[in-house]
Amino acid sequence: MPRGTFNYEKSRGNARAIFYIALQMNTLLNFDSEHLWHPYAALKNTPARFLAKSAHGTTIETADGLKLIDAVSSWWCMAHGHNAPEIVEAIRKQSEKMCHVMFGGFTHEPAIELGEKLVNFLPEGLNKIFFADSGSIAVECAAKMAVQYQHSLGRPERCKLVALKGGYHGDTAGAMALSDPDGMHVLFRGIMPHHYFAERPNCRFDSDWDDSDFASMERVVEEHKNEIAAVICEPVFQGGNGMWLYNAGYLKRLRELCDRYGILLILDEIASGFYRTGPRFAMMHTATQDCADFIKPDIMCIGKALTGGSITMAACVASEKVADTITNSKIPAFMHGPTYMANPLACAAGIASLSLFESRDYASSVARIEKRLKANLEPLRSLENAADVRVLGAIGVLELKAKPSADDILKVIKETGVWLRPFCNYVYTMPPFITSDAEVDRICEAIKMIGKCEPAPIVDGEDEFHE
Ligand SMILES: Cc1ncc(COP(=O)(O)O)c(C=O)c1O
Repeated sequence: MPRGTFNYEKSRGNARAIFYIALQMNTLLNFDSEHLWHPYAALKNTPARFLAKSAHGTTIETADGLKLIDAVSSWWCMAHGHNAPEIVEAIRKQSEKMCHVMFGGFTHEPAIELGEKLVNFLPEGLNKIFFADSGSIAVECAAKMAVQYQHSLGRPERCKLVALKGGYHGDTAGAMALSDPDGMHVLFRGIMPHHYFAERPNCRFDSDWDDSDFASMERVVEEHKNEIAAVICEPVFQGGNGMWLYNAGYLKRLRELCDRYGILLILDEIASGFYRTGPRFAMMHTATQDCADFIKPDIMCIGKALTGGSITMAACVASEKVADTITNSKIPAFMHGPTYMANPLACAAGIASLSLFESRDYASSVARIEKRLKANLEPLRSLENAADVRVLGAIGVLELKAKPSADDILKVIKETGVWLRPFCNYVYTMPPFITSDAEVDRICEAIKMIGKCEPAPIVDGEDEFHE
C-alpha cells in the first residue's frame, strides 16, 4: 500500500473511502512503530498513538477525524494556539528570502529585530541574548556561561552548580545533571557532571512563607560556596519533575544568598515564562508592591512559547554584569556556537509571537483561565484517588495517589475530545491562552474522569516515566 496524504474531507461519509483511510492509517502507524522513536517511549508495543493531521487554535485534528482540545499546549509551548495565522505568515514570508545562514560571521534582520523585541519584553537589565536551538541547550549555555563568568574573574575552581530536587531542566547531559537527581534520568548518572542539590522547596505557593524552608539551600551553598558558580532553579513552578508550585519567598532568600557569596542566579523560565503562571515571568511573583520590585536573575533561560510553539528556538539571556565580565576577560568569546543559531525562520516566528504577546491582554486571559480552573479542580480534592490539587495561572494539576492505566486514559481522551498527557501521578492542564471557558470546563471534566478511573495495578520493574 503506497503511503500518501489523507483526503479525509473528500471521502467523509463514503464507507469504502473510510475503509481505505483506516488501512492507510494502519500502514503509517505500523511504519511509525517500526522505525520512529518517540519521547520517553518504547519503539514497539506502546499504547495506541494518534495520527495528527492538522492543528488550528485550541484543536488538533487526527487523520480519522477526531478533534482534540490540546489541553497541554503541545508540551506547553502553544501559548497563542496552534497555527496562529500571524506566525504562519511570518515564517512563509521569511522562507522566501532566506531560510538559514550561519550566525558566525553573518547577522541578519530577523535576529536583530527579535533581539530588539526581547530587550523590551524581558525584565530590565537582562539584555545580552544568546539564541539556542532548544530549552535544554539554553540551559547548557546558562551553566557554561556561569562557569565562564567565574573563570573570567580568576575563579576556575567555581565550576559546580546547585540545583533543586524535583527540578527539570532538559534531557541533554548537562541539563539532566541539573534536574532531579532521583528522577527520570537516573540511568544516565554515569555520564552526568556532578553538581549539588538542595531539597525541593516545601512551602506552598499560596501559603505564608516559612523561612525554615530555605535551610537546606543555605546549608548546601555555605558548605560548598568556593566551588559554586551558580544556583539554577525553575522559579515558583517546577514542571517536568512534579508539577509543584512553591512559595516566591524562596526566590527572595535565594537572591540574597547568591549575592552574599558572589554566586550567580540562573532562573529557568522555559516553562513558566510568557504569562504561564500569571505575570509575564514567574520571577515577578516576588514583587511586593509595584510590579518593578521583583528579584532578577543574572542569567535567565526562555524557550517554548518564544516562537508560539511553531519552530524550535530558545535563548539564554545574561545581565550586563555577566556579559561585561566575560567580554573583558582573556577569553572574551562565550564558548558555544550551534549550527542553527538564530535561524531566520525561527527568528521570524519569534518576532510574530512577541508581537502577539505585546498586543494581546494575556494577563487577563490567564487570570480568567485560572479562575475557571480553580472553580472546577478544587472540588476534585474529594475524589478517593486525589492526593492534591494545585492551580496557578494557566496551570491546573490534579495529583493522584495512584495512576490509572494508559488504556483508561486513552478512553477518556477519545470520549471527551480532550488531549491530556498525564505523567507519573500528575494529571494536568496547561492550555493555550485562547482557550474558552467552555473548553476549560471540558478539560476539567476530562481530568475529573481520569481522577475517577481505577488505579492501575503496579507492574514490577515498570518505569513510571515512560509511555
Ligand atoms: C523548565 C524547563 N527547562 C528546560 C526544558 C527543556 O526544554 P526542551 O525540551 O526545549 O529542550 C523544559 C522542557 O520541558 C523545561 O520545562
